[in-house]
Amino acid sequence: MEVLLVILLSLIFFLMVMHGVRLHRKTKLPPGPLGFPIIGNLLELGPKPHESLAKLAQRYGPLMTIRLGSITTVVASTPDAAREILQRKDEVCSGRLIIDAAKGLENLEATMLWMSPNETWRAIRKALNLYLTNPQKLNALSGLRQDVVDETMKFVRESGHKKVSVDIGKLAFSMVLNQLSNTLLSQNVTSYESDNIKGFKTAVATVMEVLGRFNIADVIPVMKPLDPQNIRRRAKAAYQWLDEVTERLVSERLKHRESKLPRFGDMLDSLLEFSQENQDKFKLVHIKVLLADLFIAGTDTVTNTVTWAMSELLRNPDMLLRLRQEVDQIVGQDGKIKEEKILGLLYLNAVIKETMRLHAPSPLLAPHKTETEVKLGNYIVPAETQILVNVWAIGRDPSFWESPTSFMPERFLKNEIDYKGQHFEFLPFGSGRRRCPAMPLAPRMVSLILASFVYHFDWKLPHDKDEMDMNGVFGLSLQKATPLIATPIPVKLVDDF
Ligand code: HEM
Repeated sequence: MEVLLVILLSLIFFLMVMHGVRLHRKTKLPPGPLGFPIIGNLLELGPKPHESLAKLAQRYGPLMTIRLGSITTVVASTPDAAREILQRKDEVCSGRLIIDAAKGLENLEATMLWMSPNETWRAIRKALNLYLTNPQKLNALSGLRQDVVDETMKFVRESGHKKVSVDIGKLAFSMVLNQLSNTLLSQNVTSYESDNIKGFKTAVATVMEVLGRFNIADVIPVMKPLDPQNIRRRAKAAYQWLDEVTERLVSERLKHRESKLPRFGDMLDSLLEFSQENQDKFKLVHIKVLLADLFIAGTDTVTNTVTWAMSELLRNPDMLLRLRQEVDQIVGQDGKIKEEKILGLLYLNAVIKETMRLHAPSPLLAPHKTETEVKLGNYIVPAETQILVNVWAIGRDPSFWESPTSFMPERFLKNEIDYKGQHFEFLPFGSGRRRCPAMPLAPRMVSLILASFVYHFDWKLPHDKDEMDMNGVFGLSLQKATPLIATPIPVKLVDDF
């Protein structure tokens, strides 16, 4: 009897050990800090998670694991680790974790930003690509984007004549919003001084802020019903506001199309045509929600890039001058800066790339999720793990970038590095299947605004240039902490808009 008991106990012990070994082998996560019970490493992140994670990565390595409450998160912090996730294991690592903030959305299942890469998501990406990767289509509406910028430059010139300072970020926001709305719908939706710019700004800023914030309801699931930081409610209200706007815009367009008046040939027409041909996968609700997604994803990212670029140029007047001289060479007799022409300007491109390197517009990309268990390097990461790629840290890694914290556009004149997602040391738009679909459009928008700001004006800061606050506020997009205020001084004698 005793012998039998010993054999039985040994067998149980053996099975337990084997089970433990299997479990251990199954989820051999990358190393990481220990963290507290329940909240995990939440407190270690602080208000600037991209910076805190960069410091932690120095201790724990290129792939590390942190626990944000109940959410296991793997963070990639080197080009190689990013390549492993976004290129080699792209298919498995391209999901999205539905955070609590998104759960209040009326049409969550139709929202591409939140979809895992399923058939509908592929149809939406295809619909976007048809328009966004077609230079002829993008060129066709460049005149409308030009008009938006010219109109605003008139306003800036008047402010200059009156010696009134302007908020460069706010000006950029109104131009970006209208450039985007003209590309999407051939119409303006706001102006610098109008009331509804506040509506858009509040809606977009709210979504970007709450989506970028760590929400206690996500990490401690019992808190979900309480929504203790008011995040789900705020996200819902912002999305509802945008939903009403896009609903109205789509119905107006449908009426226009019924009237047999000439088509606009803009992105909305392109999306409606795609929808007619693919009604099973891409319906009107997808278009309505997609427009809101595009406004959300496209306004703050471009605005922040312009604002950081201008901040750097105002701190480096010699660079501003060099850029103006370059733009000068392609400006036509009519004084117009044409989008198609500035795209080839080397120094302008270098300034934009250097801005995106040093002030990554989406410092941690948009968080990904593993769809199934996956081997990342020597580690085994389970399904439903959140994946962050710290492109902010990668862009400042001293083993890839000389003087990484200095703003030096010249470095991009000497190398072939671009932002298309093949150079993993520089990933402002991400890489792989989830990379930004607007990569062909966004640089056009940034270039036109930036070139116009430096070509037409000198700028006087209210303080010494070396005293500029260059701190950022973390969100889904990295915003400048304090507004960039400056007085424009027109440099051209004649009004050439
Ligand atoms: C400087 C400008 C921009 C930058 C740096 C940027 C960057 C990014 C990044 C990093 C992502 C996430 C990639 C990932 O999840 O791995 C993204 C996604 C996205 N971007 Fe952009 N973006 C910019 C402008 C725009 C514009 C103008 C639009 C709209 C016209 C746009 C639309 C989108 C959309 C819809 C997604 C989600 C794609 C998906 O989830 O499949 N972006 N962008």
